[in-house]
Amino acid sequence: MKKRPDYECYRKIADHIRERIGTPPTVGVVLGTCLGEIENEIMDKTEIFYKDIPGFLVSTAPGHAGKLVCGTLGNRRVLCMAGRFHHYEGYSFEELRMPVYVFKLLGIRTLILTNAAGAVNLNFETGDICVIKDHINLCGVSPQRGENIPEFGERFFSMNDVYTPSLRKLAKETAVELGFSLQEGTYFFAPGPQFETPAEIRAMRLLGADMVGMSTVPEAITAAHCRMDVLCLSLATNLSADRVLDHDVTEDVNQVEDVVSGRFRSLLTAIVNRLDEGDIS
Ligand code: 6GU
Repeated sequence: MKKRPDYECYRKIADHIRERIGTPPTVGVVLGTCLGEIENEIMDKTEIFYKDIPGFLVSTAPGHAGKLVCGTLGNRRVLCMAGRFHHYEGYSFEELRMPVYVFKLLGIRTLILTNAAGAVNLNFETGDICVIKDHINLCGVSPQRGENIPEFGERFFSMNDVYTPSLRKLAKETAVELGFSLQEGTYFFAPGPQFETPAEIRAMRLLGADMVGMSTVPEAITAAHCRMDVLCLSLATNLSADRVLDHDVTEDVNQVEDVVSGRFRSLLTAIVNRLDEGDIS
């Protein structure tokens, strides 16, 4: 069995990255499927491929570049994951905590998670952007299973307000200023790689889910463990299984991106810019 990374392993990875990126970032961004274009907005970039970071995980999913991009977005230093890691690629939940702990060690206090997801709420449409206010993790699994690393957080930790209320407010206000509004809702973690059955979607809806996706939750749990502020923006790239008949969902995921990725990009940049204004809790 592979040895679990201990605090020292995470520290070595963070040191390696720190030496290569110059001025330390305070904001971390994880880019979801097809949202990678946002990295083009980042100026004065240093890029580090995951495969060049000793001890780091390597990305396998198509459409995921697999690199860290560090630079300036608007007026803030950001560290961006262009390409994230998913459970369906074969990573354990424990492995999925690595990027977040490394971000924490680099001094990042605010983590912005983005994802492409399915719209479960019958009032949500393809192309909607949803601010996640909470999540449902019925897999019952945790990236924090196993020996606790006390340098990061407590053995038992709260999952109240994982998605920082002041950041959700900031996101909604920023969108209105840009001329559109955001949905707000609960993200149901369904790790895939299969999409859900119609019966599963109906069950999720009964439980209060608005969006469904295969990512984000392991990272959000880890951020809660090490007490980072979290904002999650979820792009509805398609409707959930019971709302589409005979449809190629993968095709939708790629098409929606062309239409709304510009909006998503400007929203993210504006939010990052406004983090300076004392909105961070
Ligand atoms: Cl419908 N389900 C899941 N689990 N992930 C998705 C999705 C649906 N659409 C995009 N990602």
